[in-house]
Amino acid sequence: MACTCVVGLQWGDEAKGKIVDLLTESHAFVVRYNGGANAGHTVVSGSQTFKLSLLPTGVLRPNVRSVIGNGVVVYPPRFLEEVSNLRQAGVSVGDNLLVSDRAHVIFPYHMEEERLNEGGEGKTIGTTGRGIGPCYQDKAGRHFAVRLGEMLHPQHFRERLGPIVERKNRLLRALSPEARVFDADTICADYLACMEQIRPHVADTSRLLREASDEGQGILFEAAQGSLLDVDHGTYPYVTSSNSSTAGVWSGTGVPARKIERIIGVIKAYSTRVGRGPFPTELNDGPEGIGERIRRTGREYGTVTGRPRRCGWFDAVAARYSAALNDADELSVMLLDVLSDLPELRIAVAYERDGQRFEHFPTDASALEQCHPIYETLPGWKGDISTARRLADLPAAARRYVDRLGELLGLPVTIISVGPDRAQTIFAK
Ligand code: IMP
Repeated sequence: MACTCVVGLQWGDEAKGKIVDLLTESHAFVVRYNGGANAGHTVVSGSQTFKLSLLPTGVLRPNVRSVIGNGVVVYPPRFLEEVSNLRQAGVSVGDNLLVSDRAHVIFPYHMEEERLNEGGEGKTIGTTGRGIGPCYQDKAGRHFAVRLGEMLHPQHFRERLGPIVERKNRLLRALSPEARVFDADTICADYLACMEQIRPHVADTSRLLREASDEGQGILFEAAQGSLLDVDHGTYPYVTSSNSSTAGVWSGTGVPARKIERIIGVIKAYSTRVGRGPFPTELNDGPEGIGERIRRTGREYGTVTGRPRRCGWFDAVAARYSAALNDADELSVMLLDVLSDLPELRIAVAYERDGQRFEHFPTDASALEQCHPIYETLPGWKGDISTARRLADLPAAARRYVDRLGELLGLPVTIISVGPDRAQTIFAK
């Protein structure tokens, strides 16, 4: 079995969850390697819709082992809530779910810190409010960080958390006199109670995964967010705080990147973005415009926060950059059905800035802000395509649009999705 990575090539919400779900059965493990409960993975199976934000999508298949890697930041109450929701929906969750003892823990003061930073005078990113940034900040800073494995030892955990909470309270108060402050004993009691239930799932997942890959077992790496939100390679500072591109696999799981044999770049047939930051192809064309129509048809509202997503035309400059960054082998084109019945479709094939045309993606968010897209226009198609199951079932204009996306990114399109259900999928090759 091969190791595969499913990665988003845009700003997240590319419907990676569906692709992961389709590929899960042919792997022994499904592994999340970055982010935390800021992700929103929706998987539709028959009459049931599952929304996961922290657990790997693989957890819906009890015969596959699902792993939260060391690169993920874990909020214990959310972990238990998702497990409990799944069990209530009849999904069995037991020793098929593992979480790394090296994963860092999110505490309530992380969310407060984020709230104050986002509400303050500095730069607002438009984050999900789940404490992700402050937790990764503490991980890199080391003094305030707590790893999940430390919570296996209650006495050690109490001794560590007391001084951390005291200093955090002082920092929070310095940020704002209105800041909420926290009681270390209360957090300890709550988290140790959570830990009683999480304990059986905690393991040295890095070693387990390396051994599994050495034995030739298939591992499916599931990225959260999209590559343009990668902390190093995305539209910084309007990014998340982890490596959401394939760059995060090695550091976030302990499995060497060269074990990955197949990298599937997932793109939406158009673009969306939540939160702030430059978005050259955004359609700000009012309540009757195409942007709003895409939002409504594609149900483009954040899974985690419910915020309306910003919508726009497909940006081939940005996606080509991501495809190269990730070394993608192939493409999955998602939500093609959402574009049905538009008279014509546009694709940004280059940018223009200061009278110059260029085709590379700029490094800097402020440079990107000044870029204007240069569009190519393609004919649209009429009618519902959600029942198409083979390429030949698609109207010629839809096939042409998909072919053009592949051409512009220089990659074969192997999967086309025409609806949320597992069955609404065309395997092109
Ligand atoms: P954070 O990850 O909560 O710190 O938010 C940083 C940025 O990433 C914000 O613009 C969020 O809207 C965005 N973001 C975080 N997670 C997701 C996701 O799963 N999909 C799309 N955008 C996301």
